Amino acid sequence: MISFFINEKKYQCTVSETMRLIDLLRGELALTGTKLSCEIGRCGSCMVLLDGKPVNSCLTMAYQCDGKRVTTIEGLAEGEQLHPVQEAFLQEGGFQCGYCTSGMVISTAALLDAVPNPDQEQVLEALSGNLCRCTGYGSILRAVGTACTRVSKEKKEMSG
Ligand code: FES
Ligand code: FES
Repeated sequence: MISFFINEKKYQCTVSETMRLIDLLRGELALTGTKLSCEIGRCGSCMVLLDGKPVNSCLTMAYQCDGKRVTTIEGLAEGEQLHPVQEAFLQEGGFQCGYCTSGMVISTAALLDAVPNPDQEQVLEALSGNLCRCTGYGSILRAVGTACTRVSKEKKEMSG
């Protein structure tokens, strides 16, 4: 039995030793915003935050989440209010089929949490584990740039 938080809600689950976090999220808890694709840690479509850090949920075992906090794409918005990164992806059309999008958004949100005003190199490094099969990188990078601007503006407003 493990006990952990997903999107600020406490869960207690019985998991097998071989159950991956992605299986728990999608198969048991119906949190299907996190996508499964390559299954070998290459594409980033299964990215979630584990104690605030991005991880591939296809490579993370469910038991490793005991006592931790998991945030999925479903947990980024606050009620009806989308996360600024989600808004930026919508505004810039930063998706085509959308399969990579939740992973891209999670990686970007983690980056902006750690580095409020990242340079191009930091953005590329943060997204290096996220692949887009539709190759829509132009609009994705535009969305990330817009997200950076929104987040740093929000932080400035909050600090006074
Ligand atoms: S499905 Fe996990 S990295 Fe591709
Ligand atoms: S939008 Fe289709 S994989 Fe990225």
